[in-house]
Amino acid sequence: MRRLRTQVAIVGAGPSGLLLSHLLALRGIDSIVLEQRSRDYVEQRVRAGLLEQGTVDLLREAGLADRLDREGLVHEGFELRFDGSQHRLPFTELTGWTTCMYGQQEMVKDLIRAREAAGGQVHFSVDDVAPRDVATTCPRVRCTIAGDAVEIAADFIAGCDGFHGVCRQTIPAGAVTTYEHVYPFAWLGILAAVPPSTVELLYAVHERGFALHSMRSPAISRLYLQVAPAEPLADWPDHRIWAELRTRFALDGEEALNEGPILSRSVTEMRSFAMEPMQYGRLFLAGDAAHIVPPSAAKGLNLAAADVRVLAAALTVWYAEGRPDLLEGYSRVCLAAMWQGQEFSAVMTSLLHRFPDEDRYAVKLRQARLRDLVTSRAAATAFAEQYVGLARTRLTGAAGAALSARPAQR
Ligand code: FAD
Ligand code: PHB
Repeated sequence: MRRLRTQVAIVGAGPSGLLLSHLLALRGIDSIVLEQRSRDYVEQRVRAGLLEQGTVDLLREAGLADRLDREGLVHEGFELRFDGSQHRLPFTELTGWTTCMYGQQEMVKDLIRAREAAGGQVHFSVDDVAPRDVATTCPRVRCTIAGDAVEIAADFIAGCDGFHGVCRQTIPAGAVTTYEHVYPFAWLGILAAVPPSTVELLYAVHERGFALHSMRSPAISRLYLQVAPAEPLADWPDHRIWAELRTRFALDGEEALNEGPILSRSVTEMRSFAMEPMQYGRLFLAGDAAHIVPPSAAKGLNLAAADVRVLAAALTVWYAEGRPDLLEGYSRVCLAAMWQGQEFSAVMTSLLHRFPDEDRYAVKLRQARLRDLVTSRAAATAFAEQYVGLARTRLTGAAGAALSARPAQR
C-alpha cells in the first residue's frame, strides 16, 4: 500500500472540491483532490450556468476569473411571462448586483487548469474512495489510484463529492438529521447550438407547465421544460421539444424561437435535501454532498461556493492561529445560508410550476403572487435580493470577512 500525507484530503473534483483546493493553496495549505470520474467527463458535464455576483467576486479575488470576465454574460434583469403578458424584473436596478451566465463546465475547466499550473495534486479516475477514522484527529482516505492501493493521511477530510458521494454515507445515521422533499415534476434540459432568442433569461409560466430560456454563450442556448418525473427522454424527439418550447414561450399567439441542433439533453429530478450538521469529527461536507435544491432558482452551485468560502476561511484560521472556533462554527454559518437558499428555491419552484394536484383555487393564488411580484417594488426588491444572492451576504458576512485576512505564511 502506497502511503501519502496531506493537510486536507478532498473527495470530489466538482466545483466545490476544486475551488476549495485552490483557495487553500492560496493560503499555503496543502491538499490532494480525489475524483472518481475522468478529467474529460468532469470537464464536459453540463449543469449550472448562473453565477451570482458574490460567486464571481470570489472567483475574481482568487485569480480564477480571466476567461469568465472575457466570456461570461453579465445580466441585470430577467423576463417573466405569464397570462399572455411579459414583465421585466430589473434586479440590478433593485439591488445593485448583477448575475453572470457562464457554464459550470467552463468554471471546472478553469479550476483544473489553475490547479495544474500551481502544481496541485488532482487525481482523476480514482476508485474505491473510502474515508476512515473521521472521528479521530488522524483521518485517512483509502483509494485506488492507477491500479495502486493508496492510503492518504490528513488533518481533515473535505467531502465535496456531490449528492451521490461516499463521504456522507460514512457518517453514522444517528449523528445527523436529514431533511428531504421531492417535487412531483422534473426538468427536461437541452443545450442547443443556436444563438439565444432572448438577451435576458426568460421564465415562462404556462398552463402546460413551466419553461426557461437560458444561455451559455452568444452561440449556445440552454432551455428547460417542466415534464413529469422520470419522463423517458425517448418520448421527446427534437421536434416535440421545440414545439413545446414554442408553445410555452408564445406571446399573443406569436411563436418566435431560434431552433438548432441539440447538443445534449437530460431529465433532472426536482429534489431538496439537507443534512445537519455538515460536519462529523474531522470530516466537513460542502456543496451538493451536504445539500441540494431544485434548480429553479439556480442556487446549488452558488451555495456550494459559499460553503467552500467559509470552510477555506475556517481552515486558514486553524492552521495560522490554531483557533478551532471558525471550524466549530462552519455548520452554523453554512446552514443559515443553505436554509435561506432552500426557502427561496421552494418559493421560486412553487411560483413557476404547475403542480399536478393543483386545484383552480391554487392556480389563482399563484397568479396573484406573480402579479404582486411585477407590480410591487417592495415585493420585487425582496425577491431580487434573494435571486442575486445579496440576501445571503447578511448571513455569511462575518465568516467571509475572515477569509480576507492575510494569507498564512508557510
Ligand atoms: P458536484 O458537481 O456533484 O461534484 C461532485 C464530484 O464528486 C463529481 O465530480 C463526482 O464525480 C465526484 N464524486 C462523487 N462520488 C465520488 C467518490 N465516491 N469518489 C470520488 N469522487 C466522487 N446551480 C447554480 O448555482 N446555478 C444554476 O444555474 C444551476 N443550474 C443547474 C441545472 C441543472 C440541470 C442541475 C442538475 C443543477 C444545477 N445547479 C445549478 C446545481 C449545481 O450544478 C450543483 O449544485 C453543483 O454541481 C454542486 O457542485 P459540487 O462540487 O458540490 O458537486
Ligand atoms: C441555467 O442556465 O441552468 C439556469 C438559469 C437560471 C435558473 C436555473 C437554471 O433559474
